[in-house]
Amino acid sequence: MNNNTLDSIVRKVQDMKPLPMVVGQIINITEDPKATIRDLEEVILKDQVLTTKILRVANSAYYTYNRKISTISQAAVLIGFKAIKGIAFASVLNKYMNVELKGYEMEKDDLWQQSQTCAIAAREISKRIKYRDQEEAYIAGLLHDVGKTVLSQYLEDEYGEILKLVEEGSTFDEAEAKVLGFSHTEIGGKVAEKWNLPKHLVDAIKYHHDPDAADDNIMMVNIVHVADAITMMVGIGMGADGMNYKISERALEMLGLDEIGIQDLISTVVDVVQSEENYLLA
Ligand SMILES: [Fe+2]
Repeated sequence: MNNNTLDSIVRKVQDMKPLPMVVGQIINITEDPKATIRDLEEVILKDQVLTTKILRVANSAYYTYNRKISTISQAAVLIGFKAIKGIAFASVLNKYMNVELKGYEMEKDDLWQQSQTCAIAAREISKRIKYRDQEEAYIAGLLHDVGKTVLSQYLEDEYGEILKLVEEGSTFDEAEAKVLGFSHTEIGGKVAEKWNLPKHLVDAIKYHHDPDAADDNIMMVNIVHVADAITMMVGIGMGADGMNYKISERALEMLGLDEIGIQDLISTVVDVVQSEENYLLA
């Protein structure tokens, strides 16, 4: 690593565009116990793309209903405020994450598809263990690898050196940190801070490869870590980052997941990914 690289990585995070205002407004509304469906509807209707997307998701097979959902307020009742927040994030993050990442050997679509699969896995794990904030886990899954979008270009130049460390036994993110001075987990955490996201999302991003190091929001971190591992097992987005992947035994134990539980989750995730296919990659 050299200081020029470190400086330019930090600058790149600082130069990232803020998230569009609509996301902040939706976060505020979903966190305000006094907010009404009308408040939510008002914000969403200003954004045509988001409106269309929410209606499409509400009418998808995942929320099987006989009647047709044609308004945002019907959709909000059906899928809930928090799920709408998840869709808003997905709609916005698509622009940041549906990119080619040469440094990670990922083509356009790969990161985005992997992120959505991880989000779905995180939601399915949360359901299974009756975790209180399933939709937050979904959002954390969407965001967990956002740091890769920043590090990819630096990784490309140093790939040989990183690969050598991985072959010698380092995990991929350890090798990133040794060679570049930062891993995609730390950089992702900085992006989340720059975007003023709540701490549980920052922590989930920051510790998703090393959940045992987290001292706060531990269940959320564990969920995203195991969801990421499941995404690898499902075989989606198996980029360079999948090499030497270490699953935390402690995280599995805390989530109460054994081999059978994981197998079960894998098949559920595959089913859900297939049924949500029309909005995956959208
Ligand atoms: Fe990662």
